[in-house]
Amino acid sequence: MDDAGVYALDNNLAIVQTIDVITPVSDDPYIFGQIVAANSLSDIYAMGAKPITAMVFLSFPVEKIEKEIIGKILKGLADKVKEAEAVILGGHTLKDTEVKCGLAVTGICDRNKVITNSNARIGDKLILTKPLGIGIITTAIKADLVPEETISEAHYYMCQLNKTAMEKMLSVGVNSATDITGFGLLGHALEMAKASRVDFHIYCHKVPMIEGAIPLAKEGLFPGGSVKNFLYLKEKVYFSSGVSQEWQMLLCDAQTSGGLLIAVSDSKAERLLKGLKEAGLRASAIIGEVAGEGGGVKVLP
Ligand code: CO
Ligand code: CO
Ligand code: CO
Repeated sequence: MDDAGVYALDNNLAIVQTIDVITPVSDDPYIFGQIVAANSLSDIYAMGAKPITAMVFLSFPVEKIEKEIIGKILKGLADKVKEAEAVILGGHTLKDTEVKCGLAVTGICDRNKVITNSNARIGDKLILTKPLGIGIITTAIKADLVPEETISEAHYYMCQLNKTAMEKMLSVGVNSATDITGFGLLGHALEMAKASRVDFHIYCHKVPMIEGAIPLAKEGLFPGGSVKNFLYLKEKVYFSSGVSQEWQMLLCDAQTSGGLLIAVSDSKAERLLKGLKEAGLRASAIIGEVAGEGGGVKVLP
């Protein structure tokens, strides 16, 4: 049930491959390019792999978009891929009615150390490495309803690579991980709980949130994808009565380039959290635990 595929080359080495394509989540083409790259690289990092090469996919309305804008998107991609210490080998462009951009990424890892989303164990703590709120903020931006500082906070987190989180995860040794993207925290948590056949308990007041998302949630400015997530998940996830409607929705909010959700044994959790925070991932938090056998998610206040 992972988003990337793993192929063993020999007894030690495996390649991990993935592709992700998104439509613009920022008006700034350079920022958008960086977000595309961080988002596509994320599925490689979630498996504990190191990205090595990437191929670009870009489609756009050729008559309507200036070359300069395309150049800025490509510069954003190139700079992020460089920061990831990988290289862009080439790519493919296509005429389209709207802009779509993504990377197909290949990573490498020790085939015996692949981190999947199906190995969370009873007693594990759950750590989230980036705050939520990205989906609702990027939607509200289009309606001009978001203060500048909230916009730059959302951009900061979307551009942030999950590279450091992956490195800290490998150095401590964790049981399971996934990245939080389109299905929101609860969608990806449910996938992980099901694949691992365990129950997750998530404490809503411990989940990190970009503060500016909360007033937008009160206004109900969620994107269609987040509403769809909520309608699907409310049948499958147990919400305690102490969890407000806004927070139920926020936990289902579709993320672009979200953080990693990590299941780590109780004895290593505080060490990992400290390592993540010291490395600059300051929003990282322990948001819950693996409570027992099963395959469901319970949200508690
Ligand atoms: Co993923
Ligand atoms: Co993905
Ligand atoms: Co071609």
